Amino acid sequence: MNLALDFKGWMQAHLARVEAALSQWVDPQAPAQLGEAMRYAVLDGGKRLRPLLVHATAEAVGAPADSPAALRAACALELIHAYSLVHDDMPCMDNDVLRRGKPTVHVQFGQAQALLAGDALQALAFELLTPQDGSVPAPVQASCVGLLARASGYYGMAGGQAIDLASVGHRLDEAQLRQMHRLKTGALLLCGVQMGAACCPAVAPQTSAALTRFGEVLGLAFQVVDDILDVTADSATLGKTAGKDAAADKPTYVALMGLEPAQRLADQLAQEAAQALTDTGLPAERLMPLRALAAMVVQRTH
Ligand code: IPE
Ligand code: IPE
Ligand code: MG
Ligand code: MG
Ligand code: MG
Repeated sequence: MNLALDFKGWMQAHLARVEAALSQWVDPQAPAQLGEAMRYAVLDGGKRLRPLLVHATAEAVGAPADSPAALRAACALELIHAYSLVHDDMPCMDNDVLRRGKPTVHVQFGQAQALLAGDALQALAFELLTPQDGSVPAPVQASCVGLLARASGYYGMAGGQAIDLASVGHRLDEAQLRQMHRLKTGALLLCGVQMGAACCPAVAPQTSAALTRFGEVLGLAFQVVDDILDVTADSATLGKTAGKDAAADKPTYVALMGLEPAQRLADQLAQEAAQALTDTGLPAERLMPLRALAAMVVQRTH
């Protein structure tokens, strides 16, 4: 069996389903160009790492590839992520003009519309998690709503963003920086793993604990690599402005420890993530997409 080829096929199939579902669920008819701004923020761009993580985890614990719960959780998480990017780019935060290879939402549609598009994407995420058509059992809906709400809020992404902004120009130590990264980025990635696991109610405690460890380590690795790419990659490859962190005096792993130690840390975290997957006790073939995604997080070039 060729794992690389297998993963490619798995990924393409899921990307196509996620793309089609997002396009269907983000309604172009929302009033006064709001739908246009929302679709601009979400469609045609992004690696879709978080939705893939939801699907890979759901399948690892035994959900079918076409699980409606996993598809809704995958798209809901991408909507929250897209909203966080729209707001992250605004002049009051990182003041960025380029995202996913296009002008940022506020540059294209104005600040008020960008704010509202973010708000509406956040609300739509929770709407997706709570279908009235019986396709997702009520306890799974409740678990996913709770997980996504916590991961997005003040002890998740929003809290991490607050620390990020409050830390400009300050020197954080490693523990403080890890906590900031854990919240601003790690929480949503971990949530992807947890919502994927929640799609299958009967997951053994040992499996669940190991998956949580996997999600935590991967979340940190993801932001360490984001810090590295800000220094090593160019804007055309990234689809967003490179070199912004140093220019804005943001605390990052590269600023804290230097480029090579940060790279070594990312590699070490990737190994820890792989070990956590082994510790789940799940069959190797079911873990294949998760293993490949973890490798992708650390080896990515954008
Ligand atoms: C970028 O996330 C923002 C961070 C949380 C660091 P991604 O690198 O996943 O961005 P897209 O979704 O591929 O555009
Ligand atoms: C953004 O972190 C994290 C969130 C959007 C929650 P960054 O500010 O480092 O992300 P980029 O580099 O702009 O994508
Ligand atoms: Mg930011
Ligand atoms: Mg930013
Ligand atoms: Mg960054």
